[in-house]
Amino acid sequence: MPNEIKKVAVLTSGGDAPGMNAAVRAVVRASCYHQLECFGVFQGYQGLIENKIEPFSARSVNNIVNKGGTILKSARSLEFRTPEGRKKAHKNLLALSIDALVVIGGDGSFTGAMIFQSEFDFPVIGIPGTIDNDIYGTQYTLGYDTAINTVVEVIDKIRDTASSHNRLFFVEVMGRDAGHIALNSGIGAGAEEILIPEENRGLEQLLESLKRSEKSGKSSSIVVVAEGDKTGDNVFELAAYVEKNLPYYEVRVSVLGHMQRGGSPSCFDRVLASRMGIHAVESLLDGKSNVMVGVINDKMQLTPLDQAIKGESAINKELLRVTDILSI
Ligand code: F6P
Repeated sequence: MPNEIKKVAVLTSGGDAPGMNAAVRAVVRASCYHQLECFGVFQGYQGLIENKIEPFSARSVNNIVNKGGTILKSARSLEFRTPEGRKKAHKNLLALSIDALVVIGGDGSFTGAMIFQSEFDFPVIGIPGTIDNDIYGTQYTLGYDTAINTVVEVIDKIRDTASSHNRLFFVEVMGRDAGHIALNSGIGAGAEEILIPEENRGLEQLLESLKRSEKSGKSSSIVVVAEGDKTGDNVFELAAYVEKNLPYYEVRVSVLGHMQRGGSPSCFDRVLASRMGIHAVESLLDGKSNVMVGVINDKMQLTPLDQAIKGESAINKELLRVTDILSI
């Protein structure tokens, strides 16, 4: 049953990701295209509570498709976790006669959206925006493609100095508790070892594999470590353990950190964001709510928010085999 949607608000929430601006732009432009009024909410759910809500026209989102970060800013809001906070947010939306909300963020943001929708029967649609690519219901989340290309570029630079000094580098990458960034950027950058939380092969296996690499004539190596990996307590402790047990290696550590969250979005992320933003608005018009827009086999799909939140984004086991074969 089509909804009588006339006014749509959009916000970004959780860790920012390249492509969020392209998605905001698509939500605003699709709203204008369908003669809806659109509003931008600044600072995520906290902005909803503090009434940081402004009307957006098609021109309000000029020149942002190529910009990393989010012009709407993002924030984590403890107040929105309280019924009082959500009530304030709802009151602000009603005061502007806004009748639907698009939330661009990760599973934490979708949890808030789902609770809000159920408390106020307020139409919400999620767009998966996180570099971690750890959300069920979509093959790609916004920012992931840009992040893995950033990481590959940086590891290529690290490889130059590692090979110049015959060093073993441990490179820690983001992903919170998922190994997608580590696995794909590790393969792309030709890492000898890739350590991810989904597959803990243990310290001894790591030592054996590095010994084999050295015996086969490799004078330098790169080990990509997902920040959620549990092989060691942390990447520095892991590096120290390896240096102690493989004295012929000079070991160094690079923690890439928040640079992985920045940068101009890749074309892939811009196109994905544009498709998702339009699909979110048109799904609202089609009477859909409490769902997340995703891409599966290059088709836009809707997944109920509770499944998107609870579901697992599994590692592609074939890529583990690719890693093993290529590091011979
Ligand atoms: O979820 C995206 C992410 O970048 C994770 O990869 C990382 O662990 C986390 O956010 C860092 O959060 P913050 O920006 O709050 O330090």
